[in-house]
Amino acid sequence: MLMEDRIVLVTGAAQGIGRACAERFAAEGANVIVADINEPGWINWSPHAGKVFFRRCDVGNRQEVESLFTWVAEDHPGLDALLNNAGLLRAASFLELSEDDYDEVLRVCLKSVFLCSQAAARLMVARETRGTIINMSSINATVASLNNAAYCAAKGGVSQLTRAAALSLAPYGIRVNAIGPGTIATEMAKHDTPSSEASRASVISRTPSGRLGEPHEIASIAVFLATDASSYITGQTIFAEGGRLALNLTMPAT
Ligand SMILES: NC(=O)c1ccc[n+]([C@@H]2O[C@H](COP(=O)([O-])OP(=O)(O)OC[C@H]3O[C@@H](n4cnc5c(N)ncnc54)[C@H](O)[C@@H]3O)[C@@H](O)[C@H]2O)c1
Repeated sequence: MLMEDRIVLVTGAAQGIGRACAERFAAEGANVIVADINEPGWINWSPHAGKVFFRRCDVGNRQEVESLFTWVAEDHPGLDALLNNAGLLRAASFLELSEDDYDEVLRVCLKSVFLCSQAAARLMVARETRGTIINMSSINATVASLNNAAYCAAKGGVSQLTRAAALSLAPYGIRVNAIGPGTIATEMAKHDTPSSEASRASVISRTPSGRLGEPHEIASIAVFLATDASSYITGQTIFAEGGRLALNLTMPAT
């Protein structure tokens, strides 16, 4: 039990990576608040049901974020960790990308990180909690992918916001880090990579580990970053991508 009775808020945890992180935090003993626009069905039958709570929140909307954190402040003794995980894709070629889709991706993937991190940090400072903030970035923070200009811009922003917030919050003992997954087997990855065998094979051919990642492999990093095991790490993005960023793409992956 690495997180006994800690209070952790995970955004976008109805499914996918966020869900795996929320379940793992609960398995480590934490009380977990799931904030999502969709109410997750899994909480009721989770083995950790009594430790996981749902609040509906559009994390890119300031009023909804304020209301979420007011509830956290009033109903909980503190907040030990925040995982900003919510995100979405709106794939389109650069020439076709609409302003509305650009704004929506930046709102959900980047502005939400600012809104939630600021609200969480204010609560942590007020309660003198030496907490941690973790942001879900992507390998797209450093390498670009075709038809995802808004997403790449947002994730690049997440890694920079992580550094900037880490500097500002270090004097309060609050650490801020990010995780940069490669392709993880979730609903989002299915939309990014059409589920044909050829597309899947193409991703794998550029992944030295020879497979997609699994959500639980990201959850392990989230636990590491949320606990004192990472006590001297702040402002970093830890990439979990099966070696993809190390690969010189003129060479075969294996
Ligand atoms: N799956 C991948 O290959 C991959 C790779 C790199 C980074 N990521 C990042 O990991 C995170 C999770 O991705 P995933 O693959 O689990 O995605 P997913 O689509 O399976 O889950 C995303 C979750 O975010 C929620 N959400 C969307 N908009 C929201 C909003 N406005 N407010 C609150 N919740 C909202 C959704 O309801 C859903 O539960 C995202 O930030 C994504 O960019 C994923």
